[in-house]
Amino acid sequence: MNILNMYSSLNGQTEKVAFEIEKAVIEAGFAVTTVNVKNQDDVIDLLAYDLTFIGSGVYTWLPGKTMLKWIEKQMDYARKNDLILPGSPRIPGKFACVYCTYAGPHTGEGEAIPAIKYMGQLFEHLGITVADEWSIVGAFIPEKMRHFNNCGRLGNIVGRPNTEDLRQVREKTKGVIDYLQLSVPVK
Ligand SMILES: Cc1cc2nc3c(=O)[nH]c(=O)nc-3n(C[C@H](O)[C@H](O)[C@H](O)COP(=O)(O)O)c2cc1C
Repeated sequence: MNILNMYSSLNGQTEKVAFEIEKAVIEAGFAVTTVNVKNQDDVIDLLAYDLTFIGSGVYTWLPGKTMLKWIEKQMDYARKNDLILPGSPRIPGKFACVYCTYAGPHTGEGEAIPAIKYMGQLFEHLGITVADEWSIVGAFIPEKMRHFNNCGRLGNIVGRPNTEDLRQVREKTKGVIDYLQLSVPVK
């Protein structure tokens, strides 16, 4: 399986998750290309990968600006190259796992879901099946926003994602890979 691991991270929270995914993929015996979207100037051929992990921090219920801009660029490329067909038929053997890190200070997980769905639509439009969606708690990092870390809808989220959150990311990464190995003939 060709595996891509894309992420965007303003304050390093999503990067922690992306690095755990990278470790888990390697432990599962596959090669992985990890890309920080802020360093990605060119369009990526997403159909060249059997599985793409994609993640971002949540900013006003959506992925951050860097991720939004990258998605726009990918969509422009896809439209110009007729990659988006009516009905977006599914391409066998092509999958994505979409996640975000979020603090949910006001409405909890409701703030994470639009961001995950937004990123997932890029893949669904191309015919790539979203195999899994994860929302992972990520505390506010900027000093002036830290008060949100123990007064929001999720309660005390100081230090998240913590060791246990990251252990779960590794387990779920392996779970997705196992599931796909059952669904996709490995090349
Ligand atoms: C300026 C700012 C705005 C944020 N807005 C939201 C928000 O609307 N909803 C939410 O759940 N979390 C929000 N967060 C929390 C981040 O989504 C969370 O800390 C995330 O883990 C950051 O990931 P990153 O450092 O990888 O970008 C915000 C954080 C900052 C710094």
